[in-house]
Amino acid sequence: MDFLDIASIGGKGLAEVLGYARADLEPILDGAGVALVFEKPSLRTRNSCEIATVSLGGHPVYITNAEVGIDDRESAEDIARTLAGYHRVIAARVFDHRVLERMVASIAGQGYAVPVINLLSDQSHPCQAVADILTISERFGAIDGVTIAYVGDSNNVAHSLAQAALTLGAKVRIASPPQYSFDASVRASLESLGEVSFGEDPYDAVLGAEVIYTDTWTSMGQESEAAARREAFGTRYQVDAKMMALGSHDAIFMHCLPAHRGEEVTNEVIESKASVVFSQAANRMPAFKGILYASVVRP
Ligand code: CP
Ligand code: NVA
Repeated sequence: MDFLDIASIGGKGLAEVLGYARADLEPILDGAGVALVFEKPSLRTRNSCEIATVSLGGHPVYITNAEVGIDDRESAEDIARTLAGYHRVIAARVFDHRVLERMVASIAGQGYAVPVINLLSDQSHPCQAVADILTISERFGAIDGVTIAYVGDSNNVAHSLAQAALTLGAKVRIASPPQYSFDASVRASLESLGEVSFGEDPYDAVLGAEVIYTDTWTSMGQESEAAARREAFGTRYQVDAKMMALGSHDAIFMHCLPAHRGEEVTNEVIESKASVVFSQAANRMPAFKGILYASVVRP
């Protein structure tokens, strides 16, 4: 089973992944390789993926773009077909989501049964969303009916979080400056999954919400836009204690990390009792175990 985004595996696939993430699993990889290709830096993803691979009996190989040069030294297709000859699974963090789709197509054309897992692209971050769902479910006992407010840039993390949460029956409210909100096609696809709203006002979004989530205003690859983005988000979209106080009495603060204290979140909030950011980070490990297991056992 490829895992490029939450939508591609659907509710049934997501439920299976979450079930495996919580289960005691046999070391199904039995010495097989897992290629971990990174076009961008990583702390959580690299470490959680390596340890999860070892815990399933596999052998992780960390590969940076400096070595393989996607579409520079070699095409994404040639890299994927080569790696498929050595590894049971290919997982990759890329700038352009289409690179992952091209990898999937080239492997299928070659007749290999090697799934491709998205470790973050410009469009989505589904491994993060699985860890986020595990974290929210642990806190509230379930995800169904929970209200999640996402404040900030409508980016890859927000997209996957919304897809996963809506698929599992949560309500999602997204507040972004108009120039950094989802386009009409993403909005329509999220609306088809469940109860979601898109607005400009963070205070409307967080009112009574159990989860208040934010992410960086400037994602990897957007560094040249950092000043303009800081200007657009200003202090209005910063999650501070005043904003947290408008959430439900037991509201939690979430962030996929890395965080920029003083920009999208204050130090006070991220260091507060309401903050579950390191549980989220820790949950990246069982999340990837579940994803890896499902990708191997599911056709
Ligand atoms: N949240 C996350 O994906 O972190 P890294 O970029 O450190 O992997
Ligand atoms: N939206 C961020 C997430 C980092 C884990 C980025 O793409 O850089």
